Amino acid sequence: MKVCNSKILKNEQVIDNIYKLVVEFEDKIIPGQFFMLKTVNNEFLLPRPISVNDCDGNSVTFLYRVEGTGTKVMSSLIEGVEIQALGPLGNGFDVEKLKGKVAVIGGGIGVAPLLYLVKELGEQADVYLGFRDITYEVNEFEKYANKVLVATEDGSVGQKGFVTGLIDFSNYNCVVTCGPQVMMDAIMNECEKSGTMCFVSLEKRMACGLGACLGCVVQTKDGMKRVCKDGPIFEISELVRM
Ligand SMILES: Cc1cc2nc3c(=O)[nH]c(=O)nc-3n(C[C@H](O)[C@H](O)[C@H](O)COP(=O)(O)OP(=O)(O)OC[C@H]3O[C@@H](n4cnc5c(N)ncnc54)[C@H](O)[C@@H]3O)c2cc1C
Ligand code: FES
Repeated sequence: MKVCNSKILKNEQVIDNIYKLVVEFEDKIIPGQFFMLKTVNNEFLLPRPISVNDCDGNSVTFLYRVEGTGTKVMSSLIEGVEIQALGPLGNGFDVEKLKGKVAVIGGGIGVAPLLYLVKELGEQADVYLGFRDITYEVNEFEKYANKVLVATEDGSVGQKGFVTGLIDFSNYNCVVTCGPQVMMDAIMNECEKSGTMCFVSLEKRMACGLGACLGCVVQTKDGMKRVCKDGPIFEISELVRM
């Protein structure tokens, strides 16, 4: 992990309020890790956690949705300027544990950290993507996965309804998911019922990203754990579910 001012190679709108940012970065990154990003001019005080969407040894790509001040400022940065990047942070996915057939399930901007994982898993992965209406990143997953199925709530693309309606959980040795909490709760329930190993990428508001402020803790069977340092990837059997 290091903190550096990295040159922006690309920062483009993908669709609507979804952007793709590519910055120079040469170190090794594990799928599921994230960076704390901040402008070098300190337009916003606290850095914002954004997952690694992809990397190639020379650059790291982030896929982000404009939500508020920080991501709005981020979307205005142009090619050639620098951004402050602290990372890679967090544990990332232990790909060795993902044996057999893996269902990779993303909802909305939760698809962001799953692409680099699917690139590593290749044909082992069946990908299920759920969106409210506008879809993005589907063709990227299609480059690497065994198959990619899409559900939209308004039925404009793929099957109408929730992404969970696409999946027969009994077909899989493990499940990996990232997305809205309600979606992940439904998936965790299914996996608990079928006894399927399941890994979730959790999201909490973060201040330091380094395990120091304890602002991002979750309850686990082994006590409170920090999403930024001990996660963001957790196996669901570790978590205390409310
Ligand atoms: C480990 C991790 C990885 C992430 N990866 C990505 C990613 O790859 N792409 C992406 O688009 N986003 C990602 N996020 C979420 C992203 O960090 C927030 O959307 C961002 O910090 C919002 O900053 P902002 O200044 O634009 O919005 P703010 O002005 O800070 O907030 C705007 C609104 O979003 C809400 N909000 C902000 N952060 C969160 C959060 N973490 N959880 C729930 N609600 C929140 C606020 O309550 C507020 O209503 C990730 C978050 C974590 C913790
Ligand atoms: S954000 Fe400070 S401990 Fe996690």
